[in-house]
Amino acid sequence: MSTSDNPLFKSENINEDELKRALNCSKLPCHIAIIMDGNGRWAVNKNMPRAEGHRAGVESLRKVVELCVELKINILTVYAFSTENWKRPQEEINILMKLLVEYLYSEINNLHKNGVRVSTIGNTWVLPQSAQEALKMAMTKTCNNNGLTLNLALNYGGRMELVDGIKDIAREVFEGKLSPEDIDENTVSGHLYTGDYPDPDLLIRPSGDFRVSNFLLWQLAYTEFWLTTIMWPDFDRHTFLYALIDFQNRKRRFGGLEHS
Ligand code: FPP
Repeated sequence: MSTSDNPLFKSENINEDELKRALNCSKLPCHIAIIMDGNGRWAVNKNMPRAEGHRAGVESLRKVVELCVELKINILTVYAFSTENWKRPQEEINILMKLLVEYLYSEINNLHKNGVRVSTIGNTWVLPQSAQEALKMAMTKTCNNNGLTLNLALNYGGRMELVDGIKDIAREVFEGKLSPEDIDENTVSGHLYTGDYPDPDLLIRPSGDFRVSNFLLWQLAYTEFWLTTIMWPDFDRHTFLYALIDFQNRKRRFGGLEHS
C-alpha cells in the first residue's frame, strides 16, 4: 500500500542496482498516473516560498520521466494543473505556468532524443498563450515518437472530462450517429480525453493525502494505488522503484478470482 509497508523500504543502504534486480521487467505497468502532490508543504517545511517547492517538483518529474524511458514504460500521465488550481493566488498560477514553459523548452531535445511523445489531457486552450505555444512546439516536435507518452494533465478535471464526454455522446445520439442502446463502457472510455489509452495500472500519490482529487475518475476503476507520505519534491528514482516493486507484488483480480 505505501512505502512504510514494504520491507524493502526499511532496508537501509539498498542501492539502485539491487532495486532494479528486484524488478521483474516483464511485469511493469503499461500506464502510470501520478498526482504530483506536496510541493507547497515541502517548501513551507523548509521555510522556503511555495514556488521553490514547485521548482523542486519539476526535478522529480525529470527523474521519473528518465526512469520511465529506461524501463520502457508506455504511458506516464501526470497531474500538473487541475481545473480547481485556478483558485490559487494568481502569482502561484503564474509560477506554475512559467515552470511548465521552462520545462518544455529546456527538456524538449532530451525528450525527443529519448523517443518521448508529449501529449496533454484537459482544456489547454484556456492556458496562457506562452504555455499553449510551448505545448504546441513540444507536441509537434515529438508527435511521431513511439517511446514513452508523457501525458500532461493541464486544466484537467475528471468531472469536466465526463461532462464533455457525455455532451459528445449526446450530440452523436441527437445527430443519429449513435443509438442509445449501443452505448457501452467502450463508448464512454472512447469519448474521454484519454481516448484510446488503456486505463492506468498504477496511481502514485505522494504527500500523505489519500484522495483522488478529481483525477481520472472513470479510468481509475481498477487501478492499483500506491500512496506515500513522501512529498513530491523528495520523490526520487529509489522511491519510484519501490513503488514499481510493490505494484508487482499486487494480485490484480479485476473483480474476478485469482488465477494460479
Ligand atoms: C501539487 O502540490 C502540485 C501542483 C498543483 C502542481 C504540480 C506541478 C509541478 C510539479 C511543476 C510544474 C509542472 C510541469 C509539468 C513542469 P501542492 O502545491 O498542492 O502542494 P501542497 O498540497 O503541499 O500545498
